Amino acid sequence: MTAEVIHGLEGVPIAESGISFVDGKAGRLEYRGISIEDLAEHSTFEETAYLLLFGKLPTREEVDPFQDDLRTHRRLKYRILDLIKCLPETGHPMDALQAGIAAIGMFYPLRQKMDDVDRGLACIRLISKTPSVVAAFERLRKGDQQVSPRDDLTLAGNFLYMMTGKDPDPLKQRILDLCLILHADHTMNASTFAGRVVGSTLATPYSVTSSALGALSGPLHGGANEDVMALLDSIGSPQRAGAVIEEMIANKTKVPGFGHRVYKTMDPRAKILKKYAQQLSETSGTHHFETALVVEKVVQEHYQEKGIWPNVDFFSGIVYTELNIPRDCFTPVFAIARMAGWLAHWLEQVERNRIFRPTQKYVGPHDQPYIPIEKR
Ligand code: ACO
Repeated sequence: MTAEVIHGLEGVPIAESGISFVDGKAGRLEYRGISIEDLAEHSTFEETAYLLLFGKLPTREEVDPFQDDLRTHRRLKYRILDLIKCLPETGHPMDALQAGIAAIGMFYPLRQKMDDVDRGLACIRLISKTPSVVAAFERLRKGDQQVSPRDDLTLAGNFLYMMTGKDPDPLKQRILDLCLILHADHTMNASTFAGRVVGSTLATPYSVTSSALGALSGPLHGGANEDVMALLDSIGSPQRAGAVIEEMIANKTKVPGFGHRVYKTMDPRAKILKKYAQQLSETSGTHHFETALVVEKVVQEHYQEKGIWPNVDFFSGIVYTELNIPRDCFTPVFAIARMAGWLAHWLEQVERNRIFRPTQKYVGPHDQPYIPIEKR
């Protein structure tokens, strides 16, 4: 059978999934049927992670032990800290995170057949330890001591504490929690697909998520918010934004933070983040938000008809900057959130598994002679 190649697998369903849903025309995102707007307003990251993993909102009796477990597993083994110390401080935190997660897996081999308890524990460990790896690398690369986790804080609050060694500001903690909710899952994107492919081989969840981390690190996926901030910095002020963006458009340069394979209207996560970017920028006095508004306006004047709107990365970089998160840690923060989604997809994949083995359209030659090296 010769099938046509669908480049980028656009429109090709690769699994039946009940985890999240996107309506790209209406700009709607749901986790397990609940709108992202409702979750952003009422939920916490911990509760949302439970929802994604187990398919329903937890009762009080369910959420308390789940949160306790998440708090218990925040610590990193000293050998993992030693490993992080050995990584080059000039390396990207996403690479450090990928290496750290793969290495953590060596302490919990799981090569035997896993039962539900093994799987649940692996999910808890991965969600708990990911922020600790990001924070440890951030501190150690700057020559500071790593900060031990606290178990009286939420996952978001503890992450801010481990990054700085200071009590987290309650507003910043809540906004980070909200960012984690917004990034926790997003249907069949590149990193989730990468994770499901690796999961389908029955590799360990540590391999699954470290593969997904590799996929997320690329600038066409999780890395775009760094590019957005670099663009806003290079523009420098709202007054210059129009001319710079017009030039980019004339040169057919893609504007980072715009466009999406699925959304042909404004990404609902971008809508929510825009509000918080504005709120945080009012007090900090930076030009980023005002400049971003002009960029948004000019891009929309040219591209709205083409369905190119701001995506989640357009405003998330501004929010993270206001939360004092270093620029190259934006994607790792995305990964802290997405760990929950990747693991929910892994659980779903192994529940009804068949190894991914697509095909290809061979376009090379046949029946070529073997030419001895001296005659080539
Ligand atoms: N700026 C200007 N034009 C754009 C942009 C953009 N940001 N994005 C897409 N287009 C144009 C393309 O040039 C192309 O135009 P053409 O048909 O005239 O050739 C058309 O829209 C389709 O673009 P594709 O790149 O083919 O769309 P695809 O669905 O493959 O890619 C992607 C989606 C990768 C997100 C793309 O829009 C992009 O590169 N955006 C910038 C990077 C970015 O913001 N990534 C973050 C995505 S969200 C996330 O991963 C969390």
